[in-house]
Amino acid sequence: MKISWINIGSIEQSEFEKWFDQMSDKRKKEVASMKVEQKKKLRIAADALCRKTISDYCGIAPEEITFGYSEKGKPFAKDLPVHFSISHSGDYAVCAVSENEIGIDIEKIRPVNQRVADKFATEKEKEYILSSSNGFFEIWTLKEAYFKCIGTGLGKNIKDVSFEISDGIISCSKSGYEFFFNPINDNYICSICKKKAAHF
Ligand SMILES: CC(C)(COP(=O)(O)OP(=O)(O)OC[C@H]1O[C@@H](n2cnc3c(N)ncnc32)[C@H](O)[C@@H]1OP(=O)(O)O)[C@@H](O)C(=O)NCCC(=O)NCCS
Repeated sequence: MKISWINIGSIEQSEFEKWFDQMSDKRKKEVASMKVEQKKKLRIAADALCRKTISDYCGIAPEEITFGYSEKGKPFAKDLPVHFSISHSGDYAVCAVSENEIGIDIEKIRPVNQRVADKFATEKEKEYILSSSNGFFEIWTLKEAYFKCIGTGLGKNIKDVSFEISDGIISCSKSGYEFFFNPINDNYICSICKKKAAHF
């Protein structure tokens, strides 16, 4: 498994132009139609970051990697024996690459209306959220990472999975997956969900 991240605040404009050129035509169109400059930069940086991380992991040139998308939007690298996941928030883009299915989610910590937790958290998770300063984003990103790992994305299924966090140990209601927090920056929470390898 390899996790990488990038802070777009420290990147020169010329780098973004170089990275833009290596994106697929579909991706270029998507980015060109975006109105918010920050979001454009995040998408371009995320594309370049994934190319570089997969390139390092598989020993293939970044520009030779072709991305595809499942029906539900989960990205994959065509013809390569790896899985990967992307997330972006604030100034950061993150990428996780693994030989097994993987999901990553990053969120910039910001003020939230705790009532939003009613929509996604179980009673036990809500207790944790109220008792822990970053509990809201820990539970939220763990759920996003899980649903990105299994490839469904988020929706009404959000309470199908639940978490307990105690002394930094993450327990999940679903077996067969490992979860980690990736400490990148004090202002962000980043969670990773990785499917465990099958043992025969
Ligand atoms: C797609 C979704 C997982 C993205 O999460 P997010 O926190 O908004 O954004 P992130 O930056 O963390 O992740 C975006 C990346 O998720 C990936 N992604 C999209 N669909 C995915 C899926 N089904 N499985 C795994 N990854 C997916 C893409 O790579 C995307 O990056 P890209 O747009 O640069 O290609 C989430 O918004 C979702 O499931 N949306 C659909 C349902 C919905 O909107 N529900 C409302 C909330 S309850």
